[in-house]
Parts: sequence; C-alpha cells; structure tokens
Amino acid sequence: MTDHDVDPGTARAEFVVVANRLPVDVERDADGTLITKQAPGGLVTALKPILRSRRGAWVGWPGAADIGDEPIQGDDMTLVPVRLSEQEIAEYYEGFSNGSLWPLYHDVIVKPEYHREWWNSYVEVNRRFAAAAAATAAHGATVWVQDYQLQLVPRMLRMLRPDVRIGFFLHIPFPPVELFMQMPWRAEIIEGILGADLVGFHLPGGAQNFLYLAKRLAGYPTSKGNVGTRTKFGVVTVGFRSVLVGAFPISIDSAVLAEAARSPATRTRAKQLRRDLGNPQRIMLGVDRLDYTKGIDVRLRAIHELYHEGRLDPEEVVFVQLATPSRERVESYKAMRNDIERQVGRINGDFGRVGNPAVHYIHRSVPREELIAFFAAADVMLVTPLRDGMNLVAKEYLACRPDGGGALVLSEFTGAAAELRQAYLCNPHDLESVKNAIYDAVQQDRDEGRRRIRAMRRQVLQYDVDLWARSFLETLAGHIDTLEPTHSHDAARDAATQPSDDTVEPAGRSAR
Ligand code: ADP
Ligand code: F6P
Repeated sequence: MTDHDVDPGTARAEFVVVANRLPVDVERDADGTLITKQAPGGLVTALKPILRSRRGAWVGWPGAADIGDEPIQGDDMTLVPVRLSEQEIAEYYEGFSNGSLWPLYHDVIVKPEYHREWWNSYVEVNRRFAAAAAATAAHGATVWVQDYQLQLVPRMLRMLRPDVRIGFFLHIPFPPVELFMQMPWRAEIIEGILGADLVGFHLPGGAQNFLYLAKRLAGYPTSKGNVGTRTKFGVVTVGFRSVLVGAFPISIDSAVLAEAARSPATRTRAKQLRRDLGNPQRIMLGVDRLDYTKGIDVRLRAIHELYHEGRLDPEEVVFVQLATPSRERVESYKAMRNDIERQVGRINGDFGRVGNPAVHYIHRSVPREELIAFFAAADVMLVTPLRDGMNLVAKEYLACRPDGGGALVLSEFTGAAAELRQAYLCNPHDLESVKNAIYDAVQQDRDEGRRRIRAMRRQVLQYDVDLWARSFLETLAGHIDTLEPTHSHDAARDAATQPSDDTVEPAGRSAR
C-alpha cells in the first residue's frame, strides 16, 4: 500500500481532508432522486486535484439537510458525508460560521452577530466532524482540517486519535488581534486550532496574529523554529507538543487551466462570446461568489461613474459579471444581492440600449469550460474585494491567458496582491483609486500589458496548488521528526510590535 491509499481491509484512509463541504453538493430533485453538482468556492477548486492525486478520503457536509449516511467510494477518492439537520444548517453554518466568523475575519464589513445557540451548534457540529474524521483515518494517518467552519476539530480529533498527524489551514484572512478579541469564545477557538501539529495561513500577517493570541489568550510560550534547514516558523509549545505556525499562500491547478485555455474549442467559444456581446472594443469581467466581501458593488459604482464622466464609452466597453449564488438565506447576503441588482438596473437604465446592455449580469454558476472561455475573452479582469484571504479567480484569469493578453485590476486587500504586484492595484475603499485602475487597464499599451501579464503568469504557473499542498504536507510530515527550536526570543511579542518583520516566513517562497 502506498502512503495515500485507502486501506481496503479497514476502509480507513492514510490521508483525510476534513472540510465543511464535500467537493460535490448533493440535492434532491422533484421526484426525490439525489443529484450531485460541483460545490461552490475556492477551497473545493484548490483541494479537489490534491485529493484526487493522493486517493484519500474527504469528510464533509453534502450541502443539503438530512442527507448522508454511508461513505461513497469514488474512482479517485472516498466521500464521507456528515449529516446536518435544518436547525444545524441555520445555527452552525448560516449562523456561527457565516454570521459571526465570516464577517469578523473579513474586517467586520458587516457587523458580526454573536449568539450562544449558534456557538453551541458550532461546538456540536465540530464534534461530529471530528468523530467522522476519527472513524475514517487509518492508524498514524495524516488528517488535514480546513477553514473557519472547523476550528475546534483539531483539538477534538487529537483527543479521539492522538496517533494521527493533524494539519489545519485557514482559507480566509485571520483577523487583526483587536478584532479577534471581540469573539466571546476566543480562547476556545485558539485552543481548538492548537490541537493541530501545523497551522497554516495564506500570509505571514495572519500567522503573526495567531501566534500573538496563542501567547496572550492561551498563555503558551512561543518561539521561532526551523523545519530541516530551510524555513523559519513560529512555534507554540503546548505541553509536550510543538505546534508549527506558518504562511502557505494557496494557488490553482495552473497547468491544467493553461492547457484548456489553449484549446481550439476555448478560442472559438471566446470569439463567439465577444460576438454575442456586440463586438465591443473591450470586455471587462467579474467572476465571484455573490458575497459582500468581493466588492462587486464597488466595481459597479466605479463603472457607473466612468460611463457618466465619459471616460469609458458604454457602447465600446462592456462589463460582464458572473455571480455564483451564495449563502442566500443569510440576511446580509439578501441585502447585498438587492443592492447589486438595483445598481445593474440603474447602469443599464442610464447607459444601455435595446439589445445592448452595458452590464451583463448572470446570477448562476457557469461550467468550467465556459468560465475559461470568459477568461480568455476578457480584456480586463476586475477583482476588487474589500477583503479576501487569497482570491483564486485572479490567478485563474492569468493562467487562462497563454496569449499574454489581458489586464488584471486587483484589490490591495486580497492575499493575491502580495504576489501579483504587476496588476493594476487599487484600494477598494477609495473609489477614485478603483476608477483610475480600471481606466488605466482599459487604456493600457499592448506591450506594457504583455509585460505585466507575462510576469504574473510566471508566478502563477510556477507556484501551483500542487506545490502549495506539497509544501504544507511535507512540512507537517517533517515537523514531528526534525523540528529545531531556536528559543532565543519571543516570536509573539515581535509579531505584535513589528508586524512586517520576518518572524514567520511564507513556507517555500516569498509572499511579498
Ligand atoms: P471564494 O473561495 O471566496 O469563493 P475564490 O476566488 O478563492 O473565492 O474562489 C472562487 C472559485 O469559484 C474559483 O475557482 C472560481 O472560478 C469559482 N467561481 C466563482 N464564481 C463562479 C461562477 N459564476 N461560475 C463558475 N465558477 C465560479
Ligand atoms: O474559502 C472560503 C469558503 O468559505 C470556503 O470554506 C467555502 O468552501 C467557500 O468559500 C464557499 O462558501 P460556502 O461553502 O459557504 O458556499
């Protein structure tokens, strides 16, 4: 048996991913038959190829109430469904995960709400995920717990299964200390994550914030440590254990996307899309889950003003927004959707013509091949979140431009901005900055554009999702045997006072 196979004797896996969602959503159609479709979001996009290649097990919620009992053995992975009731979806998922943690970790763009019953449900559901992971992992297996919905799982799992190696990765930003301190159950969350052997964030800043809190809130000593000879990490000493803390900026399956973008079918479809849009001089594109963090409203406001001021001609420069429905029962999401749709209507009312709207808005998820054709057709990609852990869409766009064409407008408040410095960077809180970035990208000189895209593509193609996963998992594997603590000084204190120092370096590459 290789390192990552499922053991057929015990049906237990050597490699287990635990995430809120399974990679597929299971739904019941009108006659009660179960159907599946790809689950939304960057986490699934990133982890699916990793798990396929390692042939492990994926523990997660199937995306609907009261579904899931038995593991499903697929060709390349085992799916282990975790069943949630309607009430748990309302309290654990829509409530604590997306009404408390999500806004708190995204700079309180909307006000987080804290309710004891939401928290109780979060604890209960985390316990169920931990039990499912414990029942799935083979002796000594590696279990990789994902994201903010499951921050208590590492500690719970360690209690159930002290033999397994536990990694935890946060796919969203870890907030500044002053914001995190709002959380009524702050110490429990830090203790929960510290059940892992390795804790990963996208950026060094998140790792530094976490280290500071491990010391201040939980009272554990912190220091610096090396794994092998290469990389410096923060180390938290929890009893007899050392927990490594580091930055691992996530990426995409770039070569596969680049290959698909080169195909004749994509090129033909991209041309057809341009024709369908009325052969404008420039196509601007936005691709997001419909989420208030993504700054869709910001880019619409900027476009409206640019049309109004005559800096962009709505007949020649059109905007297409693809928006995947997301968390539709959460109040803040309903309000945001109304606001965005009102803005789209207003722009088209002011500047559209019959058969030629200025803004094309599609409120649904589009198939992967169609998305790649949109990327290939777009002259300017608009990525303007108010806060985003990484933003994979920015990287996907670059991978899909083997022709060297296009331009990327990118918010400074995304993790991706740390790597993609040749983008047209903007501050989404400053409308003039967004307008100028869009205007410059639309007007860019062809050679200048190619120079920028080439440099960013190099980054995205070189540091792909496989390297991200390998870097995390090799660190996790190596850590237990080769950690060399350097207890010379207090990493947490440094992190708090010198936010940009090198206390925690990104693992395997530079994030800035
Ligand atoms: P998040 O994880 O917050 O949703 P990311 O940008 O990191 O944000 O990842 C979003 C993923 O979802 C990307 O892989 C992107 O291609 C995909 N996606 C977003 N919107 C759509 C859409 N309308 N149709 C198809 N895929 C989409
Ligand atoms: O990366 C952020 C994230 O919340 C993932 O955890 C999640 O899979 C994705 O966005 C989509 O969100 P949701 O699962 O709530 O639809």
